Amino acid sequence: MPLSIAATEDGAEYWDLTSAAPGYLFSLRDMTALITGAGGGVGGWLAIGLAAAGARLVLSDVNEELCGRLSNFLSNRGVDFIVVPADLREVDAPRQLVARSVERYEALDVVVNAAAMNERRPIASVGTDLWTEIANVNLRSAYFIAREAMLSMRNSGGGSIINITSVNSEIGLEDVSVYGAHKAALAQATKTMCIEWAKYNIRVNCIAPGFLMTSLSRPLWLDEDRAKWILDRCPMRRPGAPSELIGACLLLASGAGSFISGSSILIDGGLLAGSPWK
Ligand SMILES: NC(=O)c1ccc[n+]([C@@H]2O[C@H](COP(=O)([O-])OP(=O)(O)OC[C@H]3O[C@@H](n4cnc5c(N)ncnc54)[C@H](O)[C@@H]3O)[C@@H](O)[C@H]2O)c1
Repeated sequence: MPLSIAATEDGAEYWDLTSAAPGYLFSLRDMTALITGAGGGVGGWLAIGLAAAGARLVLSDVNEELCGRLSNFLSNRGVDFIVVPADLREVDAPRQLVARSVERYEALDVVVNAAAMNERRPIASVGTDLWTEIANVNLRSAYFIAREAMLSMRNSGGGSIINITSVNSEIGLEDVSVYGAHKAALAQATKTMCIEWAKYNIRVNCIAPGFLMTSLSRPLWLDEDRAKWILDRCPMRRPGAPSELIGACLLLASGAGSFISGSSILIDGGLLAGSPWK
């Protein structure tokens, strides 16, 4: 289903309170959203945000147990969803995931690529196996899920694809060379997707979080020196919560973001703006 496109004409005769209202602009009613990493902190909260805006959900994660908790929550609130477990290290997982989504709900309107893994090590101790595993989950799967989704969306009027990247797409961090390289590559691929797929009314964007509090980043927060390093540099001096990504996700997913493509929205408490002296 095509996302709504606001009137392009200017002038008083086109003013309309209904189509300017948040409830209309941000609505995902009758739309289907696929979320990978749905068992995680960010994926779980984004699934809840998308459901709250009216979307049907396809939840995917390698960890079925984590998805189970979200399933119970959503079932009790009458949300229409399915769970499709997938290990994104598998080369055919993107095709299967999108095929299953379309088979169940006929079309796919929104994709959120939130699954990721990380292992923090100095470059001297990174081997090709670790490199390939992180690449496959964080870059290859997101790239091919987007590609498979595009092949479906171009036949159903368009859609919105949201890749979750990181401040690490922009800056280097000690011990995070592989994850950072692939997040930067995903941000770059997003731009080409935007360019190639705009003709199908498919928008592709990134959300680039700073340091949040989730299972992926907990080891950083538990390390006193690293936690202090982050807090000293982040103007807002606190970890972000994964729920604080919902607003940007709904903007990019819905008609409210109908002219946003190829962009990256930083949600980092001001980290990349610069740091306070003390
Ligand atoms: N937490 C942060 O501070 C932070 C910062 C910047 C970016 N991010 C990004 O946010 C996104 C979500 O991360 P999160 O913080 O919610 O972490 P998380 O660990 O809570 O969630 C990640 C999810 O991805 C799933 N996953 C891992 N390997 C998989 C595989 N092989 N196949 C399928 N699923 C797999 C995990 O099971 C997990 O549920 C990621 O893309 C991450 O890079 C997080």
